[in-house]
Amino acid sequence: MTKTQVGIIGAGPAGLLLSHMLHLQGIESVIVEQRSREDIEATIKAGVLEHPTVELLKELGVGERMVREGYVHNGIELSFGGKRHRIDLPELTGGKSITVYPQHEVIKDLVAAVLANGTTIEFGVSDVSLHGIDGTQPSIRYSKDGAAQEIQCDFIGGCDGFHGPSRQAIPASIRQEHLKVYPAGWFGILCEAPPSSDELIYAQSDRGFVLISTRTPDVQRMYFQCDPNDSVDNWSDDRIWAEFRARLANDDGWQLKEGRIFQKGIIAMRSFVCETMQHGRLFLAGDSAHIVPPTGAKGLNLAAGDVVLLSKAIVDFYRRDDRAGLDSYSARAVKRVWRGEHFSWWMTNMLHDFDGEDTITRRFRQSQLEYTVSSRAAAASLAENYVGLPFEGWQG
Ligand code: FAD
Ligand code: DHB
Repeated sequence: MTKTQVGIIGAGPAGLLLSHMLHLQGIESVIVEQRSREDIEATIKAGVLEHPTVELLKELGVGERMVREGYVHNGIELSFGGKRHRIDLPELTGGKSITVYPQHEVIKDLVAAVLANGTTIEFGVSDVSLHGIDGTQPSIRYSKDGAAQEIQCDFIGGCDGFHGPSRQAIPASIRQEHLKVYPAGWFGILCEAPPSSDELIYAQSDRGFVLISTRTPDVQRMYFQCDPNDSVDNWSDDRIWAEFRARLANDDGWQLKEGRIFQKGIIAMRSFVCETMQHGRLFLAGDSAHIVPPTGAKGLNLAAGDVVLLSKAIVDFYRRDDRAGLDSYSARAVKRVWRGEHFSWWMTNMLHDFDGEDTITRRFRQSQLEYTVSSRAAAASLAENYVGLPFEGWQG
């Protein structure tokens, strides 16, 4: 049996960031993670870091490689009707931008920092369960290499993503879950090619949405809207490129740069919020409490916002015996979450065509796109949300 102050389930961005922020304030934690270190450091997920997330990682001393190897983007393009329209982020937000730096690189930086802190990350665990969250000595039980283990702690950070056990440990009677499943998925690829554009392109077309993103000068990340039940096996490289070309047809003479595809995957699109995000000594952060469709690039960034609030609340408890931050955690965290949820839903509806839509919905979308690129107020609203609203309780 191990004793620690905060037991954390999940070594994703939320769990690792929580552990590191607590360590910087002299609070110890132990993380349990079901996958291996190699696996979490290689899983391809997010690419876009908001301005507040970037500033946070720098201030926590884990931003050095991100600053060196990430790419600052000062604009995004919205493409529709065969034309591209630029949204100038710093100009519309008082100087803010976003950084393209892959989530698995953030994970590598955070794992290295957490291990250098002397914190234990138990990788490859199974049968994780939560106990005693209603009392003052909760515990996490799990198996490692066939042996039963237990961590006794003061608090549990439930950072185990959408499918983890933490949320389920909150009694169903006090959990209000809001869910919307979209009738589409994103087909994502990584390919060896030079960038097709200096900035991300969010493209709407009658065949469905396309996102052109990037990773490095030689590796590009792209997505197209697909049937969520489709299989990557149905998509040869030729068919994928033909679909991208058809959706990106334009009057500007702009051409997609193609190359060898070396990774393919389909992701589901959901909006989900669990209210409450806390129960007794258990506090949820990140995807364990909320999911957004990927269109606004908000998921990881919302996780960071939760952790800023939660770490401060835990620090106040130990330093000043002040429970106010813990008691109000869910109510405060969920406000920023709802903003991100609404923005992601709004971006999704503006850019995707869903099967069976009526013609009035299509016209609304067209009008919204035209308004967004022609009105400074509308463009500024998109830009403000896209670069990320400030984290409550943190001056970044
Ligand atoms: P996770 O990253 O899901 O981490 C949870 C961890 O808990 C995992 O390592 C998991 O193995 C572990 N775990 C689960 N169950 C257990 C268990 N029983 N026991 C122990 N451990 C467990 N977000 C953005 O902000 N910007 C983007 O550009 C963006 N693009 C995306 C693109 C794609 C293709 C995808 C899939 C997601 C994207 N997201 C983006 C969303 C973002 O990746 C997630 O919101 C983010 O990973 C959430 O972090 P988390 O730590 O809460 O959860
Ligand atoms: C990426 C993912 C997103 O969801 C998004 O909105 C922008 C970029 C990416 O993986 O690069």
